Amino acid sequence: MSNTESSDSLITTDVETGSDEHAVAPDRTAVAARDLNVYYGDEQAIDDVSMEIPENRVTALIGPSGCGKSTFLRCINRMNDMIDICRVEGDVEFGGKNVYDADVDPVALRRKIGMVFQKPNPFPKSIRDNVAYGLKIQGFDGDVDARVKESLKGAALWDEVKDQLDSSGLELSGGQQQRLCIARAIAPDPEVILMDEPTSALDPVAASKIEDLIDDLAEEYTVIIVTHNMQQAARISDRTAVFLTGGRLVEYDDTTKIFEDPEEQRVEDYITGKFG
Ligand SMILES: Nc1ncnc2c1ncn2[C@@H]1O[C@H](COP(=O)(O)OP(=O)(O)O)[C@@H](O)[C@H]1O
Ligand SMILES: [Mg+2]
Repeated sequence: MSNTESSDSLITTDVETGSDEHAVAPDRTAVAARDLNVYYGDEQAIDDVSMEIPENRVTALIGPSGCGKSTFLRCINRMNDMIDICRVEGDVEFGGKNVYDADVDPVALRRKIGMVFQKPNPFPKSIRDNVAYGLKIQGFDGDVDARVKESLKGAALWDEVKDQLDSSGLELSGGQQQRLCIARAIAPDPEVILMDEPTSALDPVAASKIEDLIDDLAEEYTVIIVTHNMQQAARISDRTAVFLTGGRLVEYDDTTKIFEDPEEQRVEDYITGKFG
């Protein structure tokens, strides 16, 4: 899909059915923040952040609690719109379009940029309906069962649930619930998946399955993940952005560079555990 098509699709109500099998050249930009400032009332949570996030890579956002990681992530698909006192200045470009332009439909945007949260939050519905949920909203007229299967496979959950698609998503284990939420996020065939500490409520085995899955997801999607677990960022990400207090992006580079030879002393202090 070209940039133009991508941005057009944000402002039309046309439904895409997942035929965009675009071969992606490495390191095209998926999302770019430009001079982004975010405030909650008078409190500034993001301070003039600019960064380009590459397509089909895993980009990790790390930094101490309260430094603005979740706020930044929520800017990308306009989830901050739902917080009354939150004010966003600057641009977030996606597919060559500023997602804050007046003609962008946030619901269409969130189909393209899905989200997975810290606590698995399946709906009190069947496994099938959890995954099909987003398809129904977008008026998907393809084969729902086939898409449900494909999405559960994509989330590495199919083999575990294929015989119980009608049982409640809430009956699954925590790790399975989180993979169900990932299946729900990928069902509408997004381009970007945002994850906000997706493993921090899970046991180590379940967390490790999600980490493996994230690696696979990056073949098809751009993954942007907030984690406070630095080992996790080092293991799974290609690029790492380090935010420090006050919502400032202090360093952003290849993950190996950040962890082995950061430019900034403050980043070295943070990743070696001197604070945070
Ligand atoms: N809904 C909100 N209302 C008011 N202030 C908020 C809200 N969400 C976050 N903040 C504030 O914004 C700053 C950044 O928070 P957050 O983005 O959640 O950081 P992180 O995810 O890095 O822990 C913090 O000072 C936090 O208290
Ligand atoms: Mg957070």
